[in-house]
Amino acid sequence: MRVLITGANGQLGSDIVDIFNSIHQVFAFGRDTLDITNIEEITRIAREIKPDVIIHAAAYTAVDQAESNLEDAFEVNAYGTRNVAIAAEDVGAKLVYISTDYVFDGTNDEPYSEHDVPSPLGVYGESKYAGEQYAASLCLSHFIVRTSWVYGKYGNNFVKTMIQLGKERKSIRVVNDQTGSPTYTVDLVHFLLELIESDKYGVYHATNVGQCTWYDLAKAIFEIQEMNDVTVEACSTEEFPRPAARPRNSVLGHSAIKRNGFTDLPPWREALECFLKI
Ligand SMILES: NC(=O)c1ccc[n+]([C@@H]2O[C@H](COP(=O)([O-])OP(=O)(O)OC[C@H]3O[C@@H](n4cnc5c(N)ncnc54)[C@H](OP(=O)(O)O)[C@@H]3O)[C@@H](O)[C@H]2O)c1
Repeated sequence: MRVLITGANGQLGSDIVDIFNSIHQVFAFGRDTLDITNIEEITRIAREIKPDVIIHAAAYTAVDQAESNLEDAFEVNAYGTRNVAIAAEDVGAKLVYISTDYVFDGTNDEPYSEHDVPSPLGVYGESKYAGEQYAASLCLSHFIVRTSWVYGKYGNNFVKTMIQLGKERKSIRVVNDQTGSPTYTVDLVHFLLELIESDKYGVYHATNVGQCTWYDLAKAIFEIQEMNDVTVEACSTEEFPRPAARPRNSVLGHSAIKRNGFTDLPPWREALECFLKI
């Protein structure tokens, strides 16, 4: 298939490009070659390439900065996604929009279902949810794939930060009252490979299976790395004030993956071991 990728230089986009390249004909665009806020540009490029699928991984992802940059966050995540959705529909391509656990407020006791009504806590989540609505209303053949706590070999992420901090300090304090599901980019990309072959459109929750707190995740990282001299101390969200509120529970239930017969992603700890051992 001919697959156009936006945000191709980002953490997830880079792994999509690497893995898709061996199977599909990939047309990768970073912000330097395709700014999604420019509708003429995306429409022209889509018409030239005639992709079967557009994977839209470009986003404004600075969660805290978004609180004081509402215009920028909506320009990219909401209107940029509108532009990509219009371009996908224009050329008859399937659209995969990568979205986030931040569309939920985190007050559920249970994992969130694909059909729970979003209620974002902050600007980033609001802008991503607006993007979901544009994707769903403007491109008939759409997949909305919500993921969470993403890490991989490209870019900065929590796993890399912990390892770096562990080299610099003997003791690290990590919040233990936010629960979610870490997601290894490579596992998410394998799910996307399967998804785009299908016509089972709609909303999907795709994370590594299982749940943990950031504290649990930090402990697991140091155990696997055998960095036994690093002590991880549990602390509360209130002790680490940030401009954007975080959902307390952002665990995403995988009923759409199961009901539609897709292969679920591996358990989070197994995925973390895979990542850290390569
Ligand atoms: N990281 C997570 O934990 C996480 C969790 C849930 C969902 N997600 C979603 O997963 C997707 C991928 O995230 P990621 O972790 O790969 O983030 P990322 O590393 O920040 O990648 C996003 C990419 O989008 C590019 N971009 C920003 N504005 C653009 C524009 N106007 N036109 C074209 N490209 C633009 C960025 O380029 P610049 O760097 O040049 O700005 C960056 O390369 C996003 O949709 C995000 O919302 C991520």
